[in-house]
Amino acid sequence: MQVIRSINEMQSTSISNRSKGQLIGLVPTMGALHEGHASLIDTAKEKSDITIVSIFVNPTQFAPSEDFQQYPRELEHDLALCEKHGVDIVFAPSEEDIYPKSYSTFVEENVVSKGLCGISRPNHFRGVTTICAKLFNIVRPDVAVFGQKDAQQCAVIRKMIDDLQMPIELAISPTIREEDGLAKSSRNQYLTPEQRKDAGLIFKALSEGKSLADNGVQSVDRIIAEVTHTLGTSRRLRIIYASIVDKMMMQPVKEVKSGECLIAVACWLDQVRLIDNIEL
Ligand code: PAF
Repeated sequence: MQVIRSINEMQSTSISNRSKGQLIGLVPTMGALHEGHASLIDTAKEKSDITIVSIFVNPTQFAPSEDFQQYPRELEHDLALCEKHGVDIVFAPSEEDIYPKSYSTFVEENVVSKGLCGISRPNHFRGVTTICAKLFNIVRPDVAVFGQKDAQQCAVIRKMIDDLQMPIELAISPTIREEDGLAKSSRNQYLTPEQRKDAGLIFKALSEGKSLADNGVQSVDRIIAEVTHTLGTSRRLRIIYASIVDKMMMQPVKEVKSGECLIAVACWLDQVRLIDNIEL
């Protein structure tokens, strides 16, 4: 496995591999890799000849009040996981190279990114689209793999790829969960054992909402009432949003249509922000 830190070297390596007809798969990450990322890597390996994992904690997607400084940085652990899962190249650029002092260009999607997490994290997706556009230009992937857990991020990236005619296939991997249903996330390591117990309620609430929809309930209010009731059984959990939106544009729907929407939830579990979703 090769570890590349230089942007120029990454770009020239990819250009040379592409000229040999090899398909490149990219898994963009911020490190602190876990089984969820391993499944993204497996998807990339199935779809490409050369699998590249980028590791970069992207400052532009964090608000000043958020956990950028605290975000786990575990390069040795991450490299071992990548090696174990057969990654060909890890691209781990420095912050100064990605955002030199003179940096001034941003990519912004203006519809899909504005609801849900976009309300409480106004510049978050602008940071995500900017870093992904940069990574796509550097790594030149044929396929880029993202996790369904970040459903809005997937929809925003899909829209950017489409709007900007980027020649990239977007692959979305299913959410990997703990035994009690908690979606795997690098932020789960912030949870104390006590908080961890309550975190399982998020998937329980989503599953209850889905089971109502599966049983023919089409009323958004009825399903959301059930979800918020279950989340409300923990005094540690504060709901940021619980909404039913269409999968492509992330806009609120009036009525549930099976196969077209999802329940998306974000909440604070004390000081830890968790998100999850379930397709209906
Ligand atoms: O999902 C993430 O880890 C990040 O938002 C991403 C896509 C790597 C961009 O920094």
